[in-house]
Amino acid sequence: MASHPSVPFFSGAASVRRQWSEVSELIRQTASDGTFVSGRLVAELEEKVAQYTGARNAVACNNATDALALMLQAAGVGAGDEVIVPAYSFFATASCVVHVGAEPVFVDVDPQSYAMDPAAVRSVIGPRTRAILAVHLFHQTADIAVLREIADEHGLELFEDSAEAIGMRVGDRHAGLWGRAGVLSFFPTKTLGALGDAGMVLTDDDALAERVTRLRTLGHLAEQGPGSLAVGTESVCDEIQAAVLLTRLAVLDQDIQRRAELAAHYTRRLEALAPTVTTPVMAPAKETGDPVWYVYLIETDRRDELVEYLAAHQVGTEVYYPRPLTEQPCFRDLAGARHPVPVAAAAARRAVGLPLYADLTDEQVERVCDLIHTFHEGTR
Ligand SMILES: Cc1ncc(COP(=O)(O)O)c(C=O)c1O
Repeated sequence: MASHPSVPFFSGAASVRRQWSEVSELIRQTASDGTFVSGRLVAELEEKVAQYTGARNAVACNNATDALALMLQAAGVGAGDEVIVPAYSFFATASCVVHVGAEPVFVDVDPQSYAMDPAAVRSVIGPRTRAILAVHLFHQTADIAVLREIADEHGLELFEDSAEAIGMRVGDRHAGLWGRAGVLSFFPTKTLGALGDAGMVLTDDDALAERVTRLRTLGHLAEQGPGSLAVGTESVCDEIQAAVLLTRLAVLDQDIQRRAELAAHYTRRLEALAPTVTTPVMAPAKETGDPVWYVYLIETDRRDELVEYLAAHQVGTEVYYPRPLTEQPCFRDLAGARHPVPVAAAAARRAVGLPLYADLTDEQVERVCDLIHTFHEGTR
């Protein structure tokens, strides 16, 4: 019997290995400079990401979880404020709101973009609503032009959890720059991934960038008013991660292109399984951009069985996200978690991400698709 290679969900350091000589030379220089955090390479990374995204400011932090909280804190979001967030997202989308002392108000998402449903956003705006925190998931942005309009109509601030969205643009504006500020994550699995944690705040607001810069290094700010010192944290970026990210940023557009080819390959093979398996589409939006394939997400009723079947055949998957945020024990009793979120609940039951990274081969995609076909044979 022919043996099949395993297909891990994530290729680990394979992409970095391609560029190992450049990365190791930068790390060697770092070691001899003796500056290990927030040094020359981090400054260069901030400059290059600002150029890539078109942001006036890019402020590196330890990860996007910190970047989100620092962004809100620097903007003065806090006690008494409500922030509207989608019920389907990574935990940090809501935890950042709680961390600054404000209250998340969860809304349901659109079944195609998985991003917050603008109609649901309108329905929960109240006197304490301070901001909308839009999230861009998997391969496309939220309907950000409409969310921008809603924010403007109601005098709200718009922030973006654009942790997954490097490379995503709507028109010519990069994700994270549609509101007051946004973030990027460089967690290893991300489209631009480090060899550990790193993240960033993106903003065109110079004063906000300055406050984040101070808050990320313990900074206490007296300028927010008499007696109101803002206590910061320690959330800096390592030079080693900056070395990896600078090297990988140089090939990011090639990686994005390769991811698009792989996603098209998956869709060609899997769309024949509709409606048992649904493949990703671009949801109609007021203003659109091209997809950037961070995660290739399919949906199927027998998701958990499929995950087990693929694992038994050495294919890795990742369940995004196993439960709506409104069902997280730490959020479910909040007043803002009371609105029904049926679309988020269905996605949490049905959705699963398949392996997708620039080093994945077409043969590996074929292998995954063959297995998914075999699994579903006879069930349509
Ligand atoms: C939507 C979203 N928000 C926030 C984060 C947090 O990023 P980090 O892992 O860099 O803290 C992630 C990454 O997992 C994410 O996908």
